[in-house]
Amino acid sequence: MEENTRRDFIKRSALGTAAMLLYPSSRVLGANDRVRVGMIGVGGRGQELLKQVLGVPNAQLVAIADIYTRSRDEAKRMAPGIQTLDDHRRLLDMKDIDAVIVASPLHIHARHFLDTLAAGKDLYSEKTMTWSIAEADQCLAATKNSNRVVQIGLQHESSGSLADARKWIKDGIVGKVTQVESWMSRNSPHGKGQWVRQVPPDCNAQNVNWKAFLNGRPDREFDPFKFINWRLYWEFSGGNVTENMVHQIAWIMTALDLPEPSAAFMSGGVFSEKDGRQVPDTIVVTLEYPADTVVTWQSTFSNSHYGLGERLLGSDGTIEHISGATDMVTGRSAEGIRYYPESVNRHDGSALTGETPNQNHMANWIDCVRSRKTPNASVEIGYRSAIAAHMANISYRRKQRVTLEMAKTLQPES
Ligand SMILES: NC(=O)c1ccc[n+]([C@@H]2O[C@H](COP(=O)([O-])OP(=O)(O)OC[C@H]3O[C@@H](n4cnc5c(N)ncnc54)[C@H](O)[C@@H]3O)[C@@H](O)[C@H]2O)c1
Repeated sequence: MEENTRRDFIKRSALGTAAMLLYPSSRVLGANDRVRVGMIGVGGRGQELLKQVLGVPNAQLVAIADIYTRSRDEAKRMAPGIQTLDDHRRLLDMKDIDAVIVASPLHIHARHFLDTLAAGKDLYSEKTMTWSIAEADQCLAATKNSNRVVQIGLQHESSGSLADARKWIKDGIVGKVTQVESWMSRNSPHGKGQWVRQVPPDCNAQNVNWKAFLNGRPDREFDPFKFINWRLYWEFSGGNVTENMVHQIAWIMTALDLPEPSAAFMSGGVFSEKDGRQVPDTIVVTLEYPADTVVTWQSTFSNSHYGLGERLLGSDGTIEHISGATDMVTGRSAEGIRYYPESVNRHDGSALTGETPNQNHMANWIDCVRSRKTPNASVEIGYRSAIAAHMANISYRRKQRVTLEMAKTLQPES
């Protein structure tokens, strides 16, 4: 017995040391210490996050790393005191950085995620957490093996509407929810493709580290259009499911405390944006969950009338969360969260309007870096929402209903 215990102890210590070597922990922050932040990827979204972090008291942006000169120059103009680097590994070597924001394209998230944890830094990673299920498994395991604070850029997890929905569900006024319908719709002027960005004149092989962008994908000549418009191609993107469904699905899964889906089916196609893109513009997803719930998500890029929203249909009441649906007659755009009782089961119930204010998602992360608490969009919801998105895409590409078990055994298709 004793020998076993000793051996176990040695094994545990060895594992502990290995984990510490793999994930060395950085400094312990005092209440008045500034959180020193670095950023990897400062394109469109990265620059929005850069502004956000500059606005958080007691946080200091120290450096950014990006493989495109234009992005580095733009970031430097926004925050003149920062250091700009062309390789994320140099940024992660910096001892005076506590925490890192990753806003690179989807297919590089996992690499930047794992490298950041391995460098002992806390992490804010843009959604979707990863490009594939296997990468999501790796990133979840790495977080669990570290003592790092991880926030995923699912900012609706910090919304007042989610707090309202959770309260109503917990109070028992919604009853059993067996069905959720959700949608997201956009439009663009004729001749202008949704998501398509113009290639800047300086976007050439001298100014971009194309190999670093490819991140292990087959080598080929520099393709400026794909570099700028990576969202349109499976190799780098998961399409609108990883761009937008993931936000709404995370919100729904947190509201109802749902695990990963047990099965997914997705149909649709490239129906409106016939510009050579691979990812569909018109989508219907059905996600089945183990506890008697089915969730649908629909999306189009050629009609924006109904905006974006979620409806949780319960036996005792309905929660409707909408943003941007336009009234046909008045042209007014509605936004907000409401509860409506089901009179058959709650005859004396009354309608409610949610009033909880949103929290600042970036400030929540910085607070957690200090307190070591779990942020609002934890790695778990990052993981579960990523799995839902990838299951949907796998189903679409295989043209069949996919169970969680099947999805986990399938290799991603580029
Ligand atoms: N949370 C949100 O609401 C929200 C909104 C928009 C985008 N996003 C997410 O943000 C991420 C970035 O999207 P975007 O629109 O800013 O893309 P983008 O193409 O505008 O920016 C990506 C930046 O990363 C840089 N980059 C590419 N490879 C790199 C590498 N290996 N190392 C360092 N930098 C590298 C590019 O040069 C570019 O500056 C995506 O995951 C996207 O889904 C989130």
